[in-house]
Amino acid sequence: MIKIKKLEFGEVKGYMIGKGPVGPPLMSVAFYMIDGVLIDTGFSRMEKIVLELLEKKPPHTILLTHFHEDHSGNAAAIKKRYNAKICGSLPTARLMAALPKILPYEHLIWGRASESDVDPVAESINSGRYCFTPIYTPGHSADHTVYLEKEHGWLFSGDLYIAEKIKFFRSDERIEDQIDSIKKVLEHDFDAIFCGHRPCLENGKASLKSKLAFLEDIRGNVGKMLEKGYAENQIIKSFQNSSARHIKLLTMGNVSFRNMIYSAINSCVSPGSHRSPNDNVLYPFFSGWK
Ligand SMILES: [Fe+2]
Repeated sequence: MIKIKKLEFGEVKGYMIGKGPVGPPLMSVAFYMIDGVLIDTGFSRMEKIVLELLEKKPPHTILLTHFHEDHSGNAAAIKKRYNAKICGSLPTARLMAALPKILPYEHLIWGRASESDVDPVAESINSGRYCFTPIYTPGHSADHTVYLEKEHGWLFSGDLYIAEKIKFFRSDERIEDQIDSIKKVLEHDFDAIFCGHRPCLENGKASLKSKLAFLEDIRGNVGKMLEKGYAENQIIKSFQNSSARHIKLLTMGNVSFRNMIYSAINSCVSPGSHRSPNDNVLYPFFSGWK
C-alpha cells in the first residue's frame, strides 16, 4: 500500500511518503522543498512518484542529510531528470560514491540508492532567499549532517530527532556521538524541526532537549549498573522493550532497542570505540546485497 501526504509549513513544502510491501507502510519518510532546494529525496521504491511530485517545481539543489537509502534513494534520478546538483557533507559524498551493501529488509522496504557524485557542502548553501548552514552531527550514521536556516529558525534534521523517546537504534548507531551532536545543535537558535520521519514544528528545540535528556538518562543508568558490577546481558535484559520486537525480527536485529543499550554499554566501557552488537543472527554469513 502506498501512502503520500502533502506537507505545507508556510514557505516550506514537502511530502511524507511510505510504501508497505503488504498492508500500510511500517515507516514513512519526509522530504522538504523550499526555494528550489530539496532536502532529502525519499526512497527508490517510489522513484516514479517522487519524480512526478517534483515535476511542477523541480529543484536546482539537493541537500542530503545522510546516505541512508530512505533519504538518498532518489538523488541520482532527480539529478538526472531535473539537472539538480547534489550536495552533502564530505563523509556523505564519500559514501554516496561507493555505497555499502544493504540488508534484505532495506531492499524490501526502501530499495537501494544509486551511487552518485555529491558536492561537499561549503560553509553554507545560499538558495537566493534562504541560507542553509550545515552542522555535522554523527551518531545516527557516521556522515549525518543537519541544515540550519538561522534567520527563520528552521532545522532540517534528517534522522537526528525522530522521537523524544527513541525505541530503535541501528546496529552502527553510537549513543555518545548522538549526545554530542544534539548538544552541538542545541547551541543554536531554532524552533521548527523538519524531521525525516516526524516533523516537529512547534517547540522543536524543547523536543530535541527532551531527546538529549532521554539518551543521557539511558547512558547514565547503564553506567551506574556497570559500576555495580552488572553483566552486559543483565543490563540489556533490565531495559527490555517488547514494543520494538517486531522491528527487531523484521530487520534481523539490525534495528532494535537492544542496540541502543549495547551502544550505551560500549560508550561507558570503551568510549570512542565501537563494537558491533552480535544481534543479527545472519551477520556472520550474510553481509548484505548490492
Ligand atoms: Fe537514517
